Amino acid sequence: MHQIIAMSYPFQIKSFDQYLAAYKKSVEDPEGFWSEIAADFFWRKKWDKVLEWNFKEPKIEWFKGAKLNITENCLDRHLEKNANTPAIIWESNDPEEHHRVLTYRELYNKVCQFAHVLKNNGVVKGDRVCIYMGMIPELAIAVLACARAGAIHSVVFGGFSAQSIADRLQDAKAEYIITCDGAFRGNKEIQLKNVIDDALVQCPFVKKVIVVTRTRTPVSMIKGRDVWWEDEIKKVETQGSNDFKAEEMDAEDMLFILYTSGSTGKPKGVVHTCGGYMIYTAYTFVNVFQYQPGDIHFCTADIGWITGHSYILYGPLSAGATTLMFEGIPTWPDAGRFWNIVDKYKVSILYTAPTAIRSLMGFGLDVVKDHDLRSLKVLGTVGEPINEEAWNWYHENIGKGQCPVVDTWWQTETAGVLISNLAGVTPAKPTYATLPMPGIQPVLVDENGKTVPGTDAARDGVYTSESISSPAGGSLEGAGNLCIKFPWPGMLRTTYGDHERCRLNYFSTYENLYFTGDGCLRDKNGNYRITGRVDDVLNVSGHRIGTAEVENAINMHAGVVESAVVGYPHDIKGQGIYAFVIYPSLHNEPSLSRQDITLTVSRIIGPIAKPDKIQFVSGLPKTRSGKIMRRILRKIAEGETDNLGDVTTLLDPSVVEEIKNGKI
Ligand code: PRX
Repeated sequence: MHQIIAMSYPFQIKSFDQYLAAYKKSVEDPEGFWSEIAADFFWRKKWDKVLEWNFKEPKIEWFKGAKLNITENCLDRHLEKNANTPAIIWESNDPEEHHRVLTYRELYNKVCQFAHVLKNNGVVKGDRVCIYMGMIPELAIAVLACARAGAIHSVVFGGFSAQSIADRLQDAKAEYIITCDGAFRGNKEIQLKNVIDDALVQCPFVKKVIVVTRTRTPVSMIKGRDVWWEDEIKKVETQGSNDFKAEEMDAEDMLFILYTSGSTGKPKGVVHTCGGYMIYTAYTFVNVFQYQPGDIHFCTADIGWITGHSYILYGPLSAGATTLMFEGIPTWPDAGRFWNIVDKYKVSILYTAPTAIRSLMGFGLDVVKDHDLRSLKVLGTVGEPINEEAWNWYHENIGKGQCPVVDTWWQTETAGVLISNLAGVTPAKPTYATLPMPGIQPVLVDENGKTVPGTDAARDGVYTSESISSPAGGSLEGAGNLCIKFPWPGMLRTTYGDHERCRLNYFSTYENLYFTGDGCLRDKNGNYRITGRVDDVLNVSGHRIGTAEVENAINMHAGVVESAVVGYPHDIKGQGIYAFVIYPSLHNEPSLSRQDITLTVSRIIGPIAKPDKIQFVSGLPKTRSGKIMRRILRKIAEGETDNLGDVTTLLDPSVVEEIKNGKI
């Protein structure tokens, strides 16, 4: 066994008192607080100014003028002492296929090689590169190689359709793509390159497509545009170019774009920059999970989502950790897959989503009981509120009552965890994300933007222990819309190509506040509990889906007149998608089938947005001014048909009866 030389984390919080002290300092002197943390990273040049900001424009700049390359922090600086430490352990979709381990040295070499491939194919600093791949080590290598070459990566989850990819390519004006022939997911094979080919019909500006071999599914390779990853690597090997000098980036240069759904329009490209993102993901990784050298960190997310970016790749690697990357799904070949992996690699930290926990609960304890699971030290959840039953099941049956469960609340826009307990350091409270990270200043406001008394962490304290005297207001309970008062290094800087959209979405609802879109409660000890979205965004299996986006997709079908989409409680997914669809009433029978609708949504967005329930209706409840009354539809979808509130102001109240009677 290779001896691991401890990377030290001077900023790792070890006790509740240290947490309180860090929080206090972060509020009183944010610049001093973050610059001390930043001093522990490798910068080619130090910053001119720690922070410049206003939420009006918004303008957020951290460590401006500093020069760095994030991959020098994720790779190079570990080579001297920990070159042979595993950086990435990869577990195949097929449990019989041999796993792969890339040490820091090997990962460094592969990233350098592929950075040369990018350069040989014309990629230069600032170019946007779209990555559409399955969960294989080459995905991690591609992401890091982009960062090393100064290109801006835009990873698109493998479950999105050709149309979604085309939209993202056009929005980012991405001229380069990295993909696979196909991807394995459970017993399915997904033909990724084919999907890319379909997308590219609409994107003639794409210059190069680099294709990795994974499934050996037949693909068409277009001369002059498409090249094989393996051939390009061979060329680099014959050139004998091993190292790749990392491109020098400003702390505020873009690192990546990641598209996410909002309540209106098409998905927006959330932009994160090099310096602040690095500091924030590393800081939260080390503190929330209490990572210790030698631990194996297993985050089950896909790198196509922010969780994978921050807690499979950048956070762990910048901390010199060992991160486990899993190609498959939790229920294939059986529902014991996660537990097999935990035992096989002696996983210390397991980070997954409530939807996965709920689905695994459904398979009973038979698939759990034969597993040792004693290597586990910390359990984490992310993506959606976790119900108490799932929390307890996870804690008792997986953690054997011994592992702290961290309920981490955050968003694509925040880069890393904003509210969570710190494993074993600050107390957990089931269904509560609990306390803000140092540097994070949450506050709850009412619809008018007025602070709900006692809910402002920076002013009212974060104390959870009655023995610590809490300032005035700190003992109140409150509920409201969750906002953040002060910038932190990982917050989004803009939405790609449309800064005004960023301002409107996040900074215009309440003056001088970043609005998260979530509703929240605070208990008298300062713990925050996220109650769910307050806008028209659904959270389906931990994935954000805008209702307007699904409606637009449904309305693309020639047979649809209009549709309205709402969420309803779903035992496993958290929320399900309920679509009310109006068809032309020429005949009594709907002229289209539910399958027509799901197929259309799959084509336009991807299978992840397929409605769970579709009800054909002849009309929708609308106000006299033509606005759809979603409140009523939501209640009907939730099964609450008796108490629909006042319907007399509707244009045609009779439609409500019809919808109620036809409920699925
Ligand atoms: O509603 C919150 C929910 O997921 C949203 C963010 O989604 P996304 O940007 O896709 O990022 C997911 C992974 C970070 C939030 O606005 N959410 C996330 N984590 C939690 C949560 N809701 C409750 N508890 C959580 N721990």
